[in-house]
Amino acid sequence: MMKKKVSIVLIMAIPVLLVAISGTRTNPKIVHTVSWDSSETSELFYKACADCHSHETKWPWYSYVAPVSWKIINNVNEGRGEFNISIASLGEAYEAAEEVLEGEMPPREYLILHSEAKLNTEEKNAFATGLTNTFGGEGGHDDDDDH
Ligand code: HEC
Repeated sequence: MMKKKVSIVLIMAIPVLLVAISGTRTNPKIVHTVSWDSSETSELFYKACADCHSHETKWPWYSYVAPVSWKIINNVNEGRGEFNISIASLGEAYEAAEEVLEGEMPPREYLILHSEAKLNTEEKNAFATGLTNTFGGEGGHDDDDDH
């Protein structure tokens, strides 16, 4: 009897524990805003890229549950480290168009739970042009923050 009660309490503690150890999700202050070439480009960016390349991440419920949360938090931090529209030093923004055209970004695993981020060829081409117009293309410079 006693044993059973103890195991039920332990089982109920598991979700609490998984949330407790899920890690730290941050959305730091936005200190830079992009002048988009068009609202379409910005819309697509917020649909397909902003979760990992801005400080406007929409953290889904499963990002609050370990161990999935660790992977997501890592991805976001790594993505922000490479390219981040919310800080003056945008990073590798000039590669954004190429990543889209090559189908490298958004990452495949992201698309499993974000079908809205799936772009068809036409959308990819338009988006890539918009990204180049906004951030400059290949051969551009790292800190492209003044337009
Ligand atoms: C699920 C998170 C996630 C999403 C969504 C995402 N990225 Fe990334 N991005 C990353 C990570 C992680 C890296 C660094 C590691 C790598 O290159 O795979 C990265 C790297 C980059 C880089 C730097 C070049 C490079 O390959 O290292 C660019 C440019 C980029 N992403 C553009 C985009 C664009 C444009 C979109 C939207 C179409 C997008 N990303 C969507 C996570 C993401």
